[in-house]
Amino acid sequence: MLNAAMDQHLRELLRELEEHGRENDARVTERPRMMLNLDPATAQLVSILVRASGVTRAVEIGTSNAYSTIWLAWSLGPAGGRIVSIDRNPDKHTLARDNLRRAGLLDRVELHTGDATAIVRQLAGPFDLVFLDADRRNFPEQIQILLPKLAAKALLIADNVLSHPEEIAEYLEFVSGLADFQHTTVPIGKGLSIAYRG
Ligand SMILES: C[S@@+](CC[C@H](N)C(=O)[O-])C[C@H]1O[C@@H](n2cnc3c(N)ncnc32)[C@H](O)[C@@H]1O
Repeated sequence: MLNAAMDQHLRELLRELEEHGRENDARVTERPRMMLNLDPATAQLVSILVRASGVTRAVEIGTSNAYSTIWLAWSLGPAGGRIVSIDRNPDKHTLARDNLRRAGLLDRVELHTGDATAIVRQLAGPFDLVFLDADRRNFPEQIQILLPKLAAKALLIADNVLSHPEEIAEYLEFVSGLADFQHTTVPIGKGLSIAYRG
């Protein structure tokens, strides 16, 4: 599933995180201790979208241990991109920093620890990629705060369309109603919402 153009060290690290995430999440019961990583096939699709669209200024809500952040940072890299990644759990950010360092990608990532809705209010932008993978009921508010901070060309991606349909319904209604964006949902992994303004 991993990308042939990705070097072996990074492929091995991502595989290690995938195995650790699966094993950890099957074992622990407290949600804050779960990794809840993106499905590998979804990560691959997100990576292709990022590389094909050429976006470079990303904000991610929901870092966890940086599995998806590594994919994003690697995908943004050739175009000189950077990513701001937010998580409210400081332990997750400790793990994320370590994993990003191991990936050799920490210099492309700014980690902000705290509540995502409060943090996105403070970010200046502009952003051309928004990746939402955290508290789905707050996605509508978060995207409305981010809309004025988007570049003319922008890609908005959100996970969990199939796994949490009720929680994400309001976001889907909002994003699919944006007149200047194309929108679709893709039944891959936990279900992906993709909106693009080109
Ligand atoms: C599904 S996990 C993210 C998985 C990650 N994108 C990956 O693929 O590896 C969701 C993360 O969002 C964080 N989170 C949930 N609600 C949040 C909020 N209101 N503000 C900031 N982080 C939040 C949780 O701590 C958790 O680490």
